[in-house]
Amino acid sequence: MTLSGKAALAGVLGWPVGHSRSPRLHGFWLERHGIDGAYVPLPVRPEDFAQAVSALPLLHLRGANVTVPHKEAAAALCDSMDDHAKRLGAVNTLVFSEGQIHGANTDGAGFLDNLRQGAPGWRAESGAAVVLGSGGAARAVIVALLDAGVPELRLANRTRAKAEALAESFGGPIRVFDWGDWTRVLDGAGLLVNTTSLGMQGQPPLEIALDALPGAAVVNDIVYQPLETELLRMAAGRGNRVVDGLGMLLHQARPGFEAWFGVRPEVDEALRDFVLQG
Ligand code: ATR
Repeated sequence: MTLSGKAALAGVLGWPVGHSRSPRLHGFWLERHGIDGAYVPLPVRPEDFAQAVSALPLLHLRGANVTVPHKEAAAALCDSMDDHAKRLGAVNTLVFSEGQIHGANTDGAGFLDNLRQGAPGWRAESGAAVVLGSGGAARAVIVALLDAGVPELRLANRTRAKAEALAESFGGPIRVFDWGDWTRVLDGAGLLVNTTSLGMQGQPPLEIALDALPGAAVVNDIVYQPLETELLRMAAGRGNRVVDGLGMLLHQARPGFEAWFGVRPEVDEALRDFVLQG
């Protein structure tokens, strides 16, 4: 779409940012809704981050997404933050308004919205949730699951001390398990989520035995390259419902788009197909 002189502007701050699918994703929604606006990649080195962010409101950008490695640095620059951003100490969405910077973290809500869309009827109360990993993605997933009301959250990470530190900082019904103790971890679980990088293109596989996982459990991988990871293939093969990771990326983008461009966009097959083709 051709822009006017009044076009609304937003973008994604990252380093590197060339791999980001966000410009394609927001570009699809701008086109679909006929909005006079643009969403651009904003590659910014870590040492330039604070200066770059302070320039964006002067350029009248409405806001920006924030990706690796800037999410924590962004939190430090905000005048106000939503509850999730405060608890995670990380921001993925900036909104500039009346000289103020507001930060939000929509990763956890994106994770839950994707799970609910991909596995209709899944209920947090229906059993223990198993989370593999203890990095930034795990933190967002853990907070979302605790807020959703899971009765028990089982956390397993290669470096056990990191899982224990997360359990301590978030509180709630988190139990830490040894990496590889799959029988005990999966017994009676209602949900299994992989938040590690294992299974991603170019990374080692996630070697896990699913024998103890109940057939009614839902399995979600936040890895989406490839879309069908070995974990999801194995889980589907034994009859579990599976949800791929692309939807988390798509859903986490909705609140920012709405704040900057004034329309609450939908996540559907046409969007998925378009983003995947990029
Ligand atoms: P992100 O912010 O995307 O979550 P991260 O903070 O680098 O990324 O976290 C990567 C996760 O994948 C961690 O839980 C990491 O385990 P460690 O805490 O032990 O490093 C996990 N991970 C990466 N490579 C792994 C491997 N070969 N085996 C097991 N876990 C691995």
